[in-house]
This record gives sequence, C-alpha cells and structure tokens, in this order.
Amino acid sequence: MEDQAEKLREIMKRKKDSEGASKDSLPVKQNVKPADKARIITVTSGKGGVGKTNLSVNMALAFARIGKKVTVLDADLGLANVNVMLNMVPKYNLYHVMKKQKTIREILVETEYGISIVAGASGFSQIANMGEEDRKLFIAELETLSNADIIIIDTSAGVSSNVLDFIAAADDAVIITTPEPTAITDAYGIIKIIATEYDSLNMGLKLVVNRAKGAAEGKSVADRMINIAGQFLNLKVDYLGFIYDDTSVSHAVLKQKPFMVTDPKCKASICVQHIVERMNRNKPDEVRGFGAMLRKIFGGREEG
Ligand SMILES: Nc1ncnc2c1ncn2[C@@H]1O[C@H](COP(=O)(O)OP(=O)(O)O)[C@@H](O)[C@H]1O
Ligand SMILES: [Mg+2]
Repeated sequence: MEDQAEKLREIMKRKKDSEGASKDSLPVKQNVKPADKARIITVTSGKGGVGKTNLSVNMALAFARIGKKVTVLDADLGLANVNVMLNMVPKYNLYHVMKKQKTIREILVETEYGISIVAGASGFSQIANMGEEDRKLFIAELETLSNADIIIIDTSAGVSSNVLDFIAAADDAVIITTPEPTAITDAYGIIKIIATEYDSLNMGLKLVVNRAKGAAEGKSVADRMINIAGQFLNLKVDYLGFIYDDTSVSHAVLKQKPFMVTDPKCKASICVQHIVERMNRNKPDEVRGFGAMLRKIFGGREEG
C-alpha cells in the first residue's frame, strides 16, 4: 500500500502542478452537449478478484430491468473480461480506440441482455501509461457514450492514475470488498488514498461487501470500514449492501452468462437488485454527466 500511495501522490502532484491553466480552452468541452446527463458509476476494489466485473455486469442488468439504458465500459486494462463474462468476442475493443482506428461509439456493442458494452483491451498496459494527448483523446471519445442513462465503469483493482481519474469523476464510486482481511485492508487503502488526495471532493463513496455469509457479516464488515473512514479520514462512506457468497455466481461465470440471467432468483441476484434499488432511490443531487467528468479529469491538465 505504501508504494501505491507514493505513486499516487506523485500522480496527483503532477495534476495539481498543472492546475490553474485555462479550463475554457479544453478541446473536449466544446463538444459537451447540455443533455449530457449519464449517471456514471465506477466499480473499484483494492484487491483483485473480489467481484468487480460480476457486480458491474449484473448491476447493469438490474438497472436495465427497471428501464434504464445502461452501458458497461470495461476499463480494467490489465484483465479486461466483461466480454468474456458475456461470452462475446467483439471484433474491436478499446485497443482500437487507443490506436485511433475506431471510435468508442463504433466499438459499442449491444448484448442480448438489453445492455451495451464497450470491450476492454486486455493486457494492453500501454493504455494505463498513455501519454497526455492520447489520454485526452481517449476520454473525449468516452463522451460519445453519453446517450446512456447509466454508464458503469469496471475498473482495474488497486491504484493507478487511470482508475483514480475515473473514480474522481464519477457520480458514484462503488468500492467492493469481500470479508477477507486482505481485501478489507486493500479496500481501506484505496479509500484512504481517495480521502487524502481529493480532500474536498464531495463524491458519493459507496461500499458493497461481496461474498458475505449473510446480512450480519456484510454489515459488520461495512460498519468497521465506515467507522474507520469517518473517524480517521473524515470521509463519509455509504453502505450499499452485501452480496451472498453464492455458488450460482461461479456457475454463471462458467456458463459465461450473468447470474441475473442464469438464476434471477438466486441469493446473489436478489442482493444485486436490492443494491440497485437503493442506488436508484439515492440518486446523486445532480448527475454531473460526462461533460463534467471530462472537465474534472482534464480541467487541471491543460497546458497554458
Ligand atoms: N458473490 C459471489 N459468490 C461466489 N463467488 C463469487 C462471488 N463474487 C465473485 N465470485 C467469484 O470470484 C470470481 C472473480 O469475480 P470477478 O467479478 O471476476 O472479480 P474482479 O472483477 O474483481 O476481478 C468469479 O469468477 C467468481 O467465481
Ligand atoms: Mg474484473
């Protein structure tokens, strides 16, 4: 965690150093439409393998079932697997967008489940380390997805400037952990970094406890984390709910279908529905949309 925190401070310092530059000269800003109102939800964890992709995809389905137009963007640049989970082999993915061969809109694919996805570029680590200009273009591309009601961004585990940009700009930043001590420690680590680096940020930080034995375990894990975050970081974290450790999840993963589809009545599905109902009730005061997201990401990065 120490290393990650150090790395992050460096990234954020660079970001702050370039602050104060003209925000109005943003090339992206001119393209921002007033109707740009997609609610952006990021799903992040400290530790890998705790359920980000399952939550992203199944949450998308639950939102779709209550009539929302949802896009899942696979921004896990190390282990992109949203398409694998849906048994799809899109011809193009973010790699082609990065290479400027395709636009995001062109690579957006509809699934048979009533949600659309933007496939990630697995193993293409250059995306994570891309240069300033490419990064701007890439995020500008993302804006073309703003016709969705909800964009769920499945990010990489842990800390990178890429992940942090998404988290910072999101309307809701969902942190997912399991009850495992290592997962909790890493989740707390990422919350701490968010708190330190974005002190005045009024973001909706939300917690999901995955693979819990039941409501009591979920609540106790969440209570501990929320108390520590409040006490030591002065950060408000909302508990969104837990998801049962449920064999239906791994069965669905093997079938390459969302568990909300293979087993809509299983314990995990019911839990995801509750989480989505809660999110739908507690909308952020004002959905900032992609335009705001872009300005937030690049606002401090313009050169002169
Ligand atoms: N609620 C759950 N119950 C049982 N197994 C789960 C649950 N959530 C995740 N898993 C298991 O963990 C694996 C990793 O989940 P995944 O969503 O791919 O994690 P991440 O995207 O964070 O790496 C899944 O393939 C599944 O086998
Ligand atoms: Mg994943």
